[in-house]
Amino acid sequence: MADKASLTIGDRNFECDILSGSAGPDVIDIRKLYGQAGVFTYDPGFTSTAACQSAITYIDGDEGVLLHRGYPIDQLAEQSTFMEVAYLLLNGDLPKQDELEKFTYTITRHTMLHEQLSTFYRGFRRDAHPMAIMCGVVGALSAFYHDSTDITDPKQRMIASHRLIAKMPTIAAMAYKYSIGQPFVYPQNDLSYTGNFLRMTFGVPAEPYEVDPVIENAMRRIFILHADHEQNASTSTVRLASSSGANPFACIAAGIACLWGPAHGGANEAALNMLREIGRPERIPEYIARAKDKEDPFRLMGFGHRVYKNYDPRAKVMQKTAEEVLDRLGISDPVLDTARELEQIALKDDYFIEKKLYPNVDFYSGVILSAIGFPTDMFTALFALARTVGWVAQWNEMISDPDQKIGRPRQLYTGPTQRDYVPVDQR
Ligand code: ACO
Repeated sequence: MADKASLTIGDRNFECDILSGSAGPDVIDIRKLYGQAGVFTYDPGFTSTAACQSAITYIDGDEGVLLHRGYPIDQLAEQSTFMEVAYLLLNGDLPKQDELEKFTYTITRHTMLHEQLSTFYRGFRRDAHPMAIMCGVVGALSAFYHDSTDITDPKQRMIASHRLIAKMPTIAAMAYKYSIGQPFVYPQNDLSYTGNFLRMTFGVPAEPYEVDPVIENAMRRIFILHADHEQNASTSTVRLASSSGANPFACIAAGIACLWGPAHGGANEAALNMLREIGRPERIPEYIARAKDKEDPFRLMGFGHRVYKNYDPRAKVMQKTAEEVLDRLGISDPVLDTARELEQIALKDDYFIEKKLYPNVDFYSGVILSAIGFPTDMFTALFALARTVGWVAQWNEMISDPDQKIGRPRQLYTGPTQRDYVPVDQR
């Protein structure tokens, strides 16, 4: 490809550099365009705009490829621990044995919350959505950990990152315990990251909790599959919020707020609700027809993706995990039968083929989480827990990027032009 792109506006010609990454489409560098040509570019939803450079995650949406620091997601989901993936995303390479031990030790030594934070929980209504609690409590961390908020110091940034990764399972489990009126269960550091989370969620102080290895493994996969996904809406939110130099804990709370939406992290909850509403395979055609009807706002939840125009590679691992978990728990769930059948029908339907709509990561994850015993409103909280690793990795990368600037999108103004104030009795 040429190394310059030219743009003609009327009789004026402008040249922009073309930059290449290590994979993926080249980008046209328009940073000087406004200064030279006096025009902005228009791209709502950033469908054609690279807002940053990043070396963390690569997605080829047409081919259904997802790589973290070069490693395919299916290899990581099958072979690595969540601690290895967290280290990889944060530091750039898989850890050697001693590095992994040190990292795991550090994370487990940050799992407890400042005791006073438990009083925050008591301020919430018992029926509060766990994401509302997560937003509030994670934002409140900024009032507790003052020794890790100098973002210009890489050491302090790493401590804040470790704290966030370590405390998020405790925060999410406490949100659940609070909602069902059970006592909080403190972390137990000799368990794995996921084993500890399961115990804090489903254990009670009155008796020992045995971690089931199949469920622990399913949670490990789910956490790895959700750990990062390059510049998605919540990660971009974290980057934009942090671009002003804001407190890291508050910025992660902003990411949680964005993730809560049904078009993003809330989709697995919505997908399971939809599958339950469909109820049985015979009703699928009715819902497929609704999804295709332009007059009907209904969409097949768990289908389609902004970037993947092929099978989401994470959905394949999820499907396998769903089968394993239901088999282990001896559950025969009509929702899984409905999901399998719906997938088969949609994949053969012209509407879905033409629009390249395939199951995404959320299509099967709800079936698994519900079988494990999580209520649907905890699903997005689990996603936030796992995605925290990606958020802090992207945040660290952004702060250390010399090209980093405060994020300040421009606009195409369509409101009234200047007019004079009219006193209220003359309007
Ligand atoms: N069901 C039916 N039709 C759909 C669906 C769907 N799930 N998704 C997209 N389409 C159609 C749209 O109606 C549109 O049709 P048109 O071109 O005739 O207008 C076309 O496909 C393109 O859709 P857009 O909304 O423009 O695509 P976009 O890339 O903006 O949306 C999104 C991606 C938001 C994920 C969308 O596919 C969707 O709403 N899916 C359901 C929600 C969901 O599962 N979200 C999870 C995303 S993954 C994640 O966050 C982890």
